[in-house]
Amino acid sequence: MPKILVTGSAGFIGFHTALRLLKDGWQVAGVDNLNRYYDPALKKARNKILRRNKNYKFYRCDIADYKKLEKVFQKEKFTKICHLAAQAGVRYSLANPFAYIHSNIDGFLNILELAKKYRIKDIVYASSSSVYGGNAKLPFAESDRADTPVSLYAATKKSNELMAQAYHKLYRLNLVGLRFFTVYGPWGRPDMALFKFTRNILAGQPVDIYNRGRLARDFTYIDDLADGIISALNKTKNLGRAVFNLGGGKPERLTVLLKTLEKVLGQKARLKLLPMQAGDIPRTYADIRRARKVLGYAPKCTLETGIRNFVEWYKGYYKI
Ligand SMILES: NC(=O)c1ccc[n+]([C@@H]2O[C@H](COP(=O)([O-])OP(=O)(O)OC[C@H]3O[C@@H](n4cnc5c(N)ncnc54)[C@H](O)[C@@H]3O)[C@@H](O)[C@H]2O)c1
Repeated sequence: MPKILVTGSAGFIGFHTALRLLKDGWQVAGVDNLNRYYDPALKKARNKILRRNKNYKFYRCDIADYKKLEKVFQKEKFTKICHLAAQAGVRYSLANPFAYIHSNIDGFLNILELAKKYRIKDIVYASSSSVYGGNAKLPFAESDRADTPVSLYAATKKSNELMAQAYHKLYRLNLVGLRFFTVYGPWGRPDMALFKFTRNILAGQPVDIYNRGRLARDFTYIDDLADGIISALNKTKNLGRAVFNLGGGKPERLTVLLKTLEKVLGQKARLKLLPMQAGDIPRTYADIRRARKVLGYAPKCTLETGIRNFVEWYKGYYKI
């Protein structure tokens, strides 16, 4: 039975990816430090589900701690790495810049160094749509320049792509970076719009709307994204070094997200209109032709179905 290391396995995307890998017959070694960026109870609840599977082994470990992480590499003989642990979030990077260097730069370097030392050739890692910064050309394509980040978070993700390029050249590691676009769905992240909107509408609290609602996002449903990640993991050998956009391929205005959510909840939102946030970008739109062609990536879930699935999970999890 093949074995894989999944970092950030108690996180939103790591959890879904690990579940899929277990279902596909992989043994999974999961690493996460269960930090307090958002409620660790949610991370523990995800991890508890994974731990029910005998082929999942969990290590509570900070990826920036080289010695501790090396023990995992020594103990578990995995053949691939799916690296999803990171400090996410744009706004948080304004107040907590060091957390991004710690997890996204030091942590990433440790993954590369240990992959080199233990001869693990195949690595898929999470990048982000934020690397496109304020690019005006839409949709965002992998061949576009992406060297004008507008947040430290984006700068760390772009740095990961550059570090991957260097390690590929130097040590022949296969390193595939996936630029995720606003992922949503059951077990989602409490700091993201859909989660916050749902929580506030159900609690009768106003919903913060930045840039007075003039924002658009290319939303990606978690199951579609997981398909893309699995496909990239299966193809690393032939890909060498590459980056792919994984998005829904269709931008939606934030107001459409809100209206659809109101419809699903059967409740109206009270709005609090706010200016644009520092570090944020007005729109994202993924050109997914490369991912379609090379990975066979084909997002299927509509925004309304995805929101329904999220709301159903949310109400069940919080017993509403
Ligand atoms: N969710 C999105 O829309 C989105 C968009 C673009 C990129 N990404 C990237 O995808 C990846 C997964 O994101 P997510 O949405 O699942 O976020 P998440 O915060 O839910 O998951 C990340 C997990 O990594 C863990 N982690 C963070 N720093 C760590 C460290 N130093 N050591 C060990 N574990 C650590 C966290 O505890 C968390 O469980 C991240 O790399 C993120 O930057 C996500």
